Amino acid sequence: MANLSVNIGSTTFKNPIFVASGTFGYGTENPELVDISKLGAIVTKSITLNPREGNPPPRIVETSSGMINSIGLANIGVEKYISNMLPVYEEMDTPIIMNIAGSSMTEYMDIMKKVEAVSSSIVGYEINISCPNVKEGGMEFGVDCAMTEKLTGKLRKLTDRLLIMKLSPNVTDIAAIATSSENGGANAVSAINTVVGMSINHRSRFSDIYTTFGGLSGPAIKPVGLACVHKVYNAVNIPIIGIGGIVNSTDVIEYFLAGSCSVQVGTANFRNPGITEIILNELNNYLDEKGIDSISSLIGSVKTHD
Ligand SMILES: Cc1cc2nc3c(=O)[nH]c(=O)nc-3n(C[C@H](O)[C@H](O)[C@H](O)COP(=O)(O)O)c2cc1C
Repeated sequence: MANLSVNIGSTTFKNPIFVASGTFGYGTENPELVDISKLGAIVTKSITLNPREGNPPPRIVETSSGMINSIGLANIGVEKYISNMLPVYEEMDTPIIMNIAGSSMTEYMDIMKKVEAVSSSIVGYEINISCPNVKEGGMEFGVDCAMTEKLTGKLRKLTDRLLIMKLSPNVTDIAAIATSSENGGANAVSAINTVVGMSINHRSRFSDIYTTFGGLSGPAIKPVGLACVHKVYNAVNIPIIGIGGIVNSTDVIEYFLAGSCSVQVGTANFRNPGITEIILNELNNYLDEKGIDSISSLIGSVKTHD
């Protein structure tokens, strides 16, 4: 069997198949549907300082080859995350990456300070600077190089754990934002969050989403994700976690060729919460058939025509 382990910072993950923030709850919801011990890591849904109800419905709609959501960061808030979830994570042997969202630098920092102040085994943080659905989603940071570098630097000082900045495709130059994350001291970047989209019911003439615009995800955005990862790969020396439209092992291979060192599966979990186990088995078979010893050997090895 091929070696599926991947390194990000000083952490080794047993395989590169992670589940994406917001698509797998707090990681404890569906024990009968998925064997979480098989996952490389779980990225938990975005946590803000205070609990949030999220946006009013309708906040999810199916589209061609994907879905649009405008959940609006509904979550239990950091205090409950600390009291209710961290003790549960102590009993799990699957690495947990906590995703944080905020509306100001202070909010991101306060959340991290609170988590760092208690004992826990989470392996790191993914910083959501890319939620398109609410003003608190960090986009203010994710579209601005100087703000990204400053925020990354401030968070870097607060933790020795993995620090991963989650990038938005809804920017002029994603490579520049990735470079700012690297300069600020991030161990890795993850790309991409959802792509701004809109869906309209031609009969009612209403937008299908309460907030008019939402975040498009699923297979429809895979080409956008691959392009973003490859642009970032050409710009930085830190690992990239590829996200966007992954539903099978070939998608994973393509993300590795583009430059990813691991991936996150998002929307596909809604269709089949056990999809990651299937992807992992397929991936093992693919690598064995091709005689590839280590998945890491594929990182960034796409052939281009220039
Ligand atoms: C319903 C839903 C909720 C999401 N919530 C979050 C979130 O709380 N934080 C975050 O960083 N990303 C969130 N995302 C974005 C995903 O983590 C992922 O970046 C995106 O969906 C692209 O991957 P996919 O095409 O595999 O779904 C959410 C996506 C969906 C579909």
